[in-house]
Order: sequence, then C-alpha cells, then structure tokens
Amino acid sequence: MIGSTLLVTLAAVVGTFASPLELYKRTEPGTGQDNGFFYSFWTDGAGSVQYNNGPAGSYDVTWSNVGNFVAGKGWNPGSSRVITYNGTWNGANVNSYLSIYGWTRNPLIEYYVVESFGTYNPSSGASKLGTVESDGGTYDVYRTQRVNQPSIDGTATFYQFWSVRQQKRVGGTVTMQNHFDAWSSAGLQLGTHNYQIVATEGYQSSGSASIEVIAS
Ligand SMILES: *[C@@H]1O[C@H](CO)[C@@H](O)[C@H](O)[C@H]1NC(C)=O
Repeated sequence: MIGSTLLVTLAAVVGTFASPLELYKRTEPGTGQDNGFFYSFWTDGAGSVQYNNGPAGSYDVTWSNVGNFVAGKGWNPGSSRVITYNGTWNGANVNSYLSIYGWTRNPLIEYYVVESFGTYNPSSGASKLGTVESDGGTYDVYRTQRVNQPSIDGTATFYQFWSVRQQKRVGGTVTMQNHFDAWSSAGLQLGTHNYQIVATEGYQSSGSASIEVIAS
C-alpha cells in the first residue's frame, strides 16, 4: 500500500514538472514551423546560443559571448497584421534588440520595429526620416544600408528600414500597417513579404529572453 501510494505520488510529481519542460525543445539554427508558428534562428556561429521553441508562439533563448544572432517566432509570409506579444527580455544592459523583424524580396529589405534596445541604439549615425505614433508610443523612422552582409538570399547589399520606439517596452500590441505606412510616406518601399518574427537579437553580448507571440 505504501509502495503504490509512493509510486502514484512520484508519478504525479514527475508529471507536473516534466511536461512544461518537454514543451520547450532545443532547436538548431534554421527556419521552420513549430506549434502553428513560423520560427527563424540565425547565428554567425560565434559564442553560444541556446534557442528553444516552446508552446504555441513562445520561445526562449540564452546567449553567451556571441558574435551576432537573431531568433524568434512569427509568420511566413509577413503582413500588415496586428501583433501582440509579451515576455521577459534580459538585454537592456547589453547590446541586444527586441523587435518585430522581417524581410521582403524585390526589393530585398530587412526591417525592424524595435520595441527595446540595450546599450546600442541601432539608428546611431542614421538620419531620422520621420516619426510615427502607434500603439501608445512614438517611433523614429530610419533607413540604413548593409553592404555584402548575410541575408535571406545569402551575402547581399540591401537596405534596412527601422522604426525605433522612444518609450522602450517589453510586451504590447504592434500595428504593422502603421509602420509600413510611415515607411512608405518616407519613400521606403517594401517588396514581397518573406518571414516576420518577434525577434531577440544579440550582438557581441550575453543575455536571455523568454517571449510569447500571442496573436495576430
Ligand atoms: C504572457 O502572458 C500570459 C498571460 O498573462 C502568461 O501566461 C505567459 O506566461 C506570458 N508569457 C511569457 C513568455 O511571459
């Protein structure tokens, strides 16, 4: 009797703790589908990055002494959808961004709606093309150029479009249409949408994040 009670109790305890952990799966660099969401995990290979896909739109990532990585969950193709996300981001005191991040082709564009950045403002050195009020905040609009850098089409030269939120936050709603409209007004034209994710990025830093893309 004592033996079987113990077994039942042990099974219950193991069950309680095992299932949430199993739902976060260590995932190798690449792209794919996970629990109904698209994910992308890119790294330049320097340092270490552990990226885990979790239930529905959730993921977590821990990085140490990296060169550069970008990882997260969202959709493929991207669109003007309204995105809601939440979570925690331990990147405020290091070089890291938390963004809605995506790509288009024809033209090849890498875009960011930066919700929070750490020690480095990605728009440093770029000239401001305008501002857009959206989702309770003000975002500054910029364009920068990357020359012979990694892209969804291999090494290429392309523009980056930026909206950088002045009031940093981790969690909320992002109305992508407002950013696309603001970029268009500034003469910045996107192409055909490829993927669009709520991304954690790290550059020459160590940190962690646990993010959940909730809805679109
Ligand atoms: C997001 O919010 C929901 C509802 O409050 C919560 O259950 C979930 O744990 C949060 N996700 C993260 C990654 O913090």
